[in-house]
Amino acid sequence: MSDGELLARADAAAARAYAPYSSFQVGCAVLTRDGSVIEGVNVENAAYPLGVCAERTAFARAVAEGHRPGDFVAAAITASPCGGCRQWLKEMGVERVVFRNGDRVVTMTPDELLPESFGASDLR
Ligand code: THU
Repeated sequence: MSDGELLARADAAAARAYAPYSSFQVGCAVLTRDGSVIEGVNVENAAYPLGVCAERTAFARAVAEGHRPGDFVAAAITASPCGGCRQWLKEMGVERVVFRNGDRVVTMTPDELLPESFGASDLR
């Protein structure tokens, strides 16, 4: 699957976001090495800080389905990933991240999104 097709999957998923408080609907689609595509959306809560981002619902779903960090080729997101999600993208070891930023489509690695980051190797 091309990055453009993966981003189209994220765009379609965004319509299913539950974002009644911000009205900012985000979709994420993750491609695994075995060719699976797992989608996530942001899910908000009346207790605002409890809301979860689209990236986290996608990766949590992928892990629950049996995928593991290192299994992920690409993540496509309909918005620029927030700081916390950049840490998740690093943890999941995804090779590249494709996201919309205004009118542009940007492709970056997790290390480019979060330079000098803290990660699993720092705990050893
Ligand atoms: N949001 C995401 O889902 N992913 C991001 O990386 C940026 C922000 C969501 C969280 C919240 O539901 C809404 O966008 C507004 O911040």
